[in-house]
Amino acid sequence: MDIPRLNFAHLPTRVEELPRLTEYLGGPKILVKRDDQTGLAFGGNKTRKLEFLVAEALEQGAKMLITGGALQSNHCRQTAAAAARFGLGCTLVLNGEMPDQPSANLLLDQMFGAEIVTIADRVLRDQTLQETFDKAVAGGRSPYLVTYGGSSPTGALGYAFAVEEFMKQNVKVDWMVFGTSSGGTHAGLVLGQRVFGYNGKVLGISIDEPEEWLITRVSKLASDASERMGERIEFDPAEVLANADYCRAGYGVLTDAEREAVRLFAKYEGLLLDPVYTGRAAAGMIDLIRKGFFKKEETILFWHTGGQPALFAEKYANKI
Ligand SMILES: Cc1ncc(COP(=O)(O)O)c(C=O)c1O
Repeated sequence: MDIPRLNFAHLPTRVEELPRLTEYLGGPKILVKRDDQTGLAFGGNKTRKLEFLVAEALEQGAKMLITGGALQSNHCRQTAAAAARFGLGCTLVLNGEMPDQPSANLLLDQMFGAEIVTIADRVLRDQTLQETFDKAVAGGRSPYLVTYGGSSPTGALGYAFAVEEFMKQNVKVDWMVFGTSSGGTHAGLVLGQRVFGYNGKVLGISIDEPEEWLITRVSKLASDASERMGERIEFDPAEVLANADYCRAGYGVLTDAEREAVRLFAKYEGLLLDPVYTGRAAAGMIDLIRKGFFKKEETILFWHTGGQPALFAEKYANKI
């Protein structure tokens, strides 16, 4: 396997026990994989993807990265940081209105020197992204387009190899639970599960997408990513586990469930979740625990995917 990869992530990330939270919830045993500590501008799941994506961009001779997301996108913050780190330009297409005083991820985007294009509505994003890309090509800026969330087959490889890393840590778990949205993390874990022989289950809690969409996307991404590891493996949507019961409030809408999850992790473990992704994923996990979905003797690995800078975004800080 000769897959271009840069090595800037702080790996392996630690696996830690959450004994006080486990006791409060009355079991099963909960562990956490600290991918909020992957490095690169406060860390998060995008660091692993960007090791492959930026390597691909550099190999193609790119001089700048272009990507898009929400105004408080963690993916955009980390992409902007990676661009700064490797001396590349960066343009971010963000949906939302530029506030007078940018905070949290948006403030960091600016510090990394990213050019920011805002659009009023998410429906304009694809078109604006394409226009931004075409303009950069025409201007001779050699752009590389990073798919939303870094969730291309190349980006998904980051999480396939994360499973290899986890297997070497020699910790037996029955479930991996995490937040899933654009599907790259999920697809990588599903692929890594197969390639590196993880016997437990991989359960994505949807942040904003319907189950049908997710399982179709994740199986396709995992299949496409597998080709880069040497041989195509065909994944069936029916093999992918996704739960979309916890995203009805909509993307980034803080409900009592996310608030409780963030506060429980903080109060019992001194561990910070984020309001949008890990808060929602943990809320789903906690509800499933309370409903008896997991067996008491099982062990859950909560895969922390980062995102904590959003805690300080004006939008969330006064609601959490
Ligand atoms: C903190 C955090 N967790 C989880 C996710 C979801 O990951 P994916 O887009 O790979 O599904 C994101 C996506 O932006 C994120 O920022």
